[in-house]
Amino acid sequence: KLLPIEERADYLRYPEEFEIARENLEICEKIGSGMFGFVNKGYLSMADPKSQIEYKTRLPVAIKSTKKSFDMELQTMLFEELKIMCAIEKHPNVISLIGAVTTNMRKGEFYLVTEYADNGDLLNYLRKHRETFHNTLIDMGEPVIDENYLVPNSIKKKKYLFDDQQTESTRLLPSGDHLSTSDLLSFALQIANGMEFLAAVPCVHRDLAARNVLITSSKICRIADFGLAKRYTDKNYYRIKNGKQVNLPVRWMAPESVQTYKFTEKTDVWSYGITLYEIFTLGNRPYAQVPNEQLEEFLRSGMRNEQPEYCHDDLYALMKNCWHKSPDVRPNFNTCVHYLKAHLKECA
Ligand code: ADE
Repeated sequence: KLLPIEERADYLRYPEEFEIARENLEICEKIGSGMFGFVNKGYLSMADPKSQIEYKTRLPVAIKSTKKSFDMELQTMLFEELKIMCAIEKHPNVISLIGAVTTNMRKGEFYLVTEYADNGDLLNYLRKHRETFHNTLIDMGEPVIDENYLVPNSIKKKKYLFDDQQTESTRLLPSGDHLSTSDLLSFALQIANGMEFLAAVPCVHRDLAARNVLITSSKICRIADFGLAKRYTDKNYYRIKNGKQVNLPVRWMAPESVQTYKFTEKTDVWSYGITLYEIFTLGNRPYAQVPNEQLEEFLRSGMRNEQPEYCHDDLYALMKNCWHKSPDVRPNFNTCVHYLKAHLKECA
């Protein structure tokens, strides 16, 4: 069995073929700001391989840099992220590395360049589409009580509408930029596919959430920020910002990670369940009514997020399995992929 990729980082190389000349990189507006760095939109000029004459294409890219350009610790972290990204193969549901500018690192010039996702992060994308969402899941009467949970957590009987049951008005919605129930199912499966791939590396993400999934103009989900694999291993990593304590993403974290700072595939699976909740609520905050300091007790008592309105009973059952108190009982990502595929086959 291979060690987690971040534990092999010292032995990973940065292959020279990833180096980008600074003059080929155009840095534009800031589009994001994380705990340790910034993300800017930009363009990479490169020779068009399809063209006979000398012609350069301007490829849109995302450019990651450190918050303080002369901070050795931040630079080392970004370089480690770069080496991890170099070592991970391409996958359609994982953001891929294009290259980096490293030759002037000592002078504070260090950029990690990834592909650009036109629709930004999934959380904002879901929230933006709330008004025009096209729901094809209907209620089938009285909720049933799920006896497996200490606190009554009702499951609402729901089923998908078949095409011929859809009303004229729902059928005639323009296809294109609006979202429907089948898009949500597609996002759920795509993210499971990307996570199955990362788990096989093995790479533990530690911060899977809708905000860390990017979406392209053709509704392809790409998991981002997986290279920062060490961020929460100890208190020092999330205190790096001005030496101040930065909040842990506790609403996405498995209870055992909150207690021990240990992260595994099964703690990523818990976060995947929370990400599913975000998807099927079109971007609700998990446990919105529970304050941070009550969350631990809330979960210990067996309570979980309620079934989202746009979520089929069988998918809510998957979410609840992802949130099983015992990590061994939770599915792995391979099981999640199979479960979702079976669900799509049965219901589509
Ligand atoms: N990081 C933050 N926003 C991004 C985007 N739109 N594409 C790629 N990486 C990003």
